[in-house]
Amino acid sequence: MIKQAIIPLAGLGTRLLPLTSVFAKELLPINGKPGIEYIIEECIDAGINEIIFIISDKKIMIKNYFYNDKFYKNIIKKKKDPRIINEYKKILKYKKMIKFVFQNKPLGTGDAVIKAKRFIKDKYFLMLLPDDLIVKKNCSKAMISVHNKFKGSVMASMKVNKKTVSRWGIYNISKKINKDNFLIKGVVEKPNPNQAPSNNAVIGRYILPRTIFKKLTNQKPGKGGEIHITDAIQSLINDNEIFIGHNFLGKYLDCGTMNGYIKSSLEIAKL
Ligand code: UTP
Repeated sequence: MIKQAIIPLAGLGTRLLPLTSVFAKELLPINGKPGIEYIIEECIDAGINEIIFIISDKKIMIKNYFYNDKFYKNIIKKKKDPRIINEYKKILKYKKMIKFVFQNKPLGTGDAVIKAKRFIKDKYFLMLLPDDLIVKKNCSKAMISVHNKFKGSVMASMKVNKKTVSRWGIYNISKKINKDNFLIKGVVEKPNPNQAPSNNAVIGRYILPRTIFKKLTNQKPGKGGEIHITDAIQSLINDNEIFIGHNFLGKYLDCGTMNGYIKSSLEIAKL
């Protein structure tokens, strides 16, 4: 059973500057609610009962958002506003599930994941990248079903226009399992359109084995001097760990770029 999720939140968010110069991008509102709350709701609905947030000292406001009890209690005492009471109850529910760990130097997603090592109890865990919102259908829930059926690791995949493959991590497919799932041979980072092994792109939802921590601990920095999660995944695939690509059914919203962030509010307002 997959019951734990980890969410790396320690990145700098440079693509959303100036919004992120003093503010954590995951708390930016998307249609009136911080983006991170959509991700937490996806986890809860998928049956997750513990979430590990990897933050940094610079993004301590993310922890403060869930630990502002004194403030809420004072306001509620004075105003007795049912809306605020409900919001506070929701924050308390989230807070109970979340553990915080710190990655104070953004050395890459793989390095962020290592920080959660001591909390992961089961053989597999879920990882979500909070810039990638998936609405309409719960992608994590669907991936957990795939994992329960095939017993391996699972990664989210979306078919993209062949001309745009150079913007994405692209799957090298070993073989098709059924309409929505395929076995992965590897991932190619941002290939030229004429060299891309497919047009299935990597999206930020992963079911990973606990053995990835060992890989990451011994891993040398890759592209751009960062420790990448994809390098550890490739190494696990080379060791015969089963990785399945899952073409999810929900709608993908990229909240990590300014254009995508603006569009995401408009899309969610339409739901
Ligand atoms: P990205 O590289 O896509 O986002 O990391 P970023 O670094 O936050 O933003 P840009 O690229 O400068 O605009 C994907 C996810 O991994 C986290 C980020 O917070 C984001 O959620 N991350 C990235 C870490 O937690 N630590 C890192 O060292 C790098």
